[in-house]
Amino acid sequence: MSASEPRDNFGSGGAEPAADLAELLDLAVTVAQEGAAIARDPGRDLDVSTKSNRNDLVTVADRLVEQHIAARLEAATGYPLLGEEGHTIDTWDGRVWVLDPIDGTLNYVETRRDYAVSLALCENGTPVLAVVIDVVADLCYTAVRGGGARCNGRPLPVAADRALAEAVIITDVKELQALPRLARCVEDSRGHRRYGSAALECVAVATGQAGAFLHLRLSPWDVAAAALICTECGIRVTRLDGVPLDLRWPGSVLAAPPRLHDELVHRLVVAPY
Ligand code: IPD
Ligand code: CA
Ligand code: CA
Repeated sequence: MSASEPRDNFGSGGAEPAADLAELLDLAVTVAQEGAAIARDPGRDLDVSTKSNRNDLVTVADRLVEQHIAARLEAATGYPLLGEEGHTIDTWDGRVWVLDPIDGTLNYVETRRDYAVSLALCENGTPVLAVVIDVVADLCYTAVRGGGARCNGRPLPVAADRALAEAVIITDVKELQALPRLARCVEDSRGHRRYGSAALECVAVATGQAGAFLHLRLSPWDVAAAALICTECGIRVTRLDGVPLDLRWPGSVLAAPPRLHDELVHRLVVAPY
């Protein structure tokens, strides 16, 4: 299978990207890079505060990046934007931008690496265009539905399937505590890792740096863009139980190449032990 053939669970038609999607991708990359530049140097104190709990952080930079990207995209396209830091939508009908201005804010504040700008364009809730920028590594991952995925402009190949024993699983303590079966899968795997940015973790499966990614609760902005990048690299992206992902709703996300994905769903959900 080539990197440009359809292979997603969003029902890709496999046609060449529509001309307007190619233009919109250029716009999305430009605007996301502008956001990344603001994150690198917000030009003022970060003024870190908390949201839902003491480790759910938000900074001035999160808000500045969202305001900038939302204003630019609104002026250029007029499509509504759903953003983590305050932009809401009335409906998923038609085209909607979905933005996480900084995915991995805790990293942004504490470790200063492994954070991303994540931007997707959805049509009726299905991502058709994606940009994920690993800001510190200066890597720009993009995808257009049915048109393959790229990293800094270079096509990404279909990710190799692999045996669990050779697969790194990206997941967190919360998941391991909640799912004893997952702990057993990790024991049988190459090991587990956690970067702290769901978008970058999911993309790591697309690039073959990890075999699987599992998270129990993500929001649309965490994963909309990365899910399309994954599916364009032949990765299956579903809920924990294998149900196709409907990005309009928060919930679990399991991403892995098809054979490993089947094995994980079987061991996590189906097998009677
Ligand atoms: C968070 C990161 C983290 C994930 C959390 C997300 P944020 O996003 O993606 O890896 O475990 O569930 O909320 O708050 O840094 O944008
Ligand atoms: Ca996020
Ligand atoms: Ca965020």
